[in-house]
Amino acid sequence: MSEPATKAEQSVSQLRCIGCGRTALPDRFRCEHCRDLLEIIYPGWEGRGPGGLESSSLKSLWRDRRSSLDPADQSGVWRFREILPEISKPQLITIREGNTPVYELPHCAKSAGIEQLFAKHQGMNPTGSFKDTGMTVAASFARQAGYRWVACASTGNTSASMAAYAARGGLHSLVLIPDGKISWSKLSQSLDYGAITCQLKTDFDGCVRVLNEVVERMPVYLLNSVNPYRVEGQKTAAFELLEQLGWDSPDHVIAPGGNLANSSAIGKALLEMKQLGFISRLPKVSVIQAEGANPLVRTIRENSGEKLIPVRADTMATAIRIGNPASWKKAVRVIRETGGAVEQVTEIEIALAKAEIGAEGIGCEPASAVTLAGLKKLVKQGFVKPKDAVVLVLTGHVLKDADFTLKFHRGDLFAETPYEVESRALKSQQRAPLVLEPSVDAVIRLLHSAEKSF
Ligand code: F0G
Repeated sequence: MSEPATKAEQSVSQLRCIGCGRTALPDRFRCEHCRDLLEIIYPGWEGRGPGGLESSSLKSLWRDRRSSLDPADQSGVWRFREILPEISKPQLITIREGNTPVYELPHCAKSAGIEQLFAKHQGMNPTGSFKDTGMTVAASFARQAGYRWVACASTGNTSASMAAYAARGGLHSLVLIPDGKISWSKLSQSLDYGAITCQLKTDFDGCVRVLNEVVERMPVYLLNSVNPYRVEGQKTAAFELLEQLGWDSPDHVIAPGGNLANSSAIGKALLEMKQLGFISRLPKVSVIQAEGANPLVRTIRENSGEKLIPVRADTMATAIRIGNPASWKKAVRVIRETGGAVEQVTEIEIALAKAEIGAEGIGCEPASAVTLAGLKKLVKQGFVKPKDAVVLVLTGHVLKDADFTLKFHRGDLFAETPYEVESRALKSQQRAPLVLEPSVDAVIRLLHSAEKSF
C-alpha cells in the first residue's frame, strides 16, 4: 500500500471544525485540536454565490442538466455540483445516483391524521439506499486524493454502497459489519461488488472502534458518515426535494436517525438554501429513532442536547441499531436551528408503519418506516398540524430486508419476543401467501371471498 498524496486546499470549499471553528486539511475527519467532527464550508460563495451564479440561474441550470448526456449531469448529485466540493470530472465515480422520486402517500396521510403526505424515496438509488448520494462524492474524493483502499463499518447499507462505488472507481474496499443483526441482502451486495467483508463479533459501535484504529495505522480512507464529503453528497437530496416541490418549502421534513449524518446533511442543505435565497422559509427537520436505539432522544430529553447519552442499541430495524452516534452534535444543531423535534417509536409501531407504506405500492425498509410511525406521534402531540405539508425521507428500498417483510406477513416477526401479545393487533395488515391446489375453481373461490372482504 502506498501513502496517498494529501493535496493542499485550493478550491472554494474548506474543512472546518464544528467545535472550535479551526480549519483542517482536506483528508481529515476530526479536528486535530479538539477532536470534534469537521464540516465543509464554502468561503468561495461569499459575495458571488455558488459557481458565481444567483439562485435563479442555478435553478434553471440544474433543471436543464437533466436532459444532458454527460454522466456528471445525469447524476442527481453532480448536477448540483456548484454546491459541492470541487472534484475534477475525470475522477468522478458515478452510478447515476440521486434523481429519486417524491411520492404522495394518501393512505398513510389519513392514518397519520394529516391531509397531505409526501415521501422522498432515497431507496430508489442504484444500490437501494440514500448512501449512494454521499458515497459518490467521498469515493471520488478518495480517488482524486490518490488512495487505493477505502473502508467502512456499517449496518449494511453504507457497506453495500461503498463496495459498489469502490468497484466502479477501481479502488479496493474493506467492510466491517456486525456478525448477525444485519440483513442478508445488504451483506450479499458487498460480497457481489467485491469488497473484502469481515463480520466482527461485536455490534456496529464495536466495528467503528476497530476501524478507527485501522485507518490511523494504514493508508486506508474512511468512508463512514463522519466523512464530511459524504454529508455534502447527501445534502443534494434536500436540494432535489425542494426542486421537486417547486422550491416551495414543506412545513416538516422527517428523517430516521442512526449515526445521525443524514438528518445533519438534510438540515445543512436547508440552511444553505435559506442562506443562498433558494427558499424563504425553513422546514422543521425532525429525527425519529427506534425506542431500543434512542441515544439522540435521550440526549435531547435528559440534558437538552449538551452531552451524548450512549445506549446499548437493540432494534429489528437493524440499519439504525446504533447506540453511540458520531454525528449527534450536528443533528442537535439542525433540530435547534430548524425548530424540529425528536421522537422514538416502538418495534410494533415500526412494523405497522412499514406495512402501511408497503400497501401504498411503495415500500421501504424498516429503518425508513420509523418516519411514518414518528409522524403519527408528532400529529397526536400537535407538533404537526393536520394541514401541514410533510415529507418523510425514506432511506432504504423494500428489498433491503425481505426477511423482515416475510416474517411480518407470515405473522412470526414477533414470535418469542416480548411483543408477541401486542403484535396480534397487526393481523389486519398481514397478507401471508396462500397455498392452494392448482385448480381454477379454487382460485376463483378465493377471488370471490377476497372481494367480500374489501
Ligand atoms: N436508514 C437506513 C436505511 C440506514 O441504512 C441508515 C444508516 C439510516 C437510516 C440512518 O442514517 O446513520 O445517517 O442517521 N445506516 C448506516 C449504515 C449506519 O452503515 O448503513 P444516519
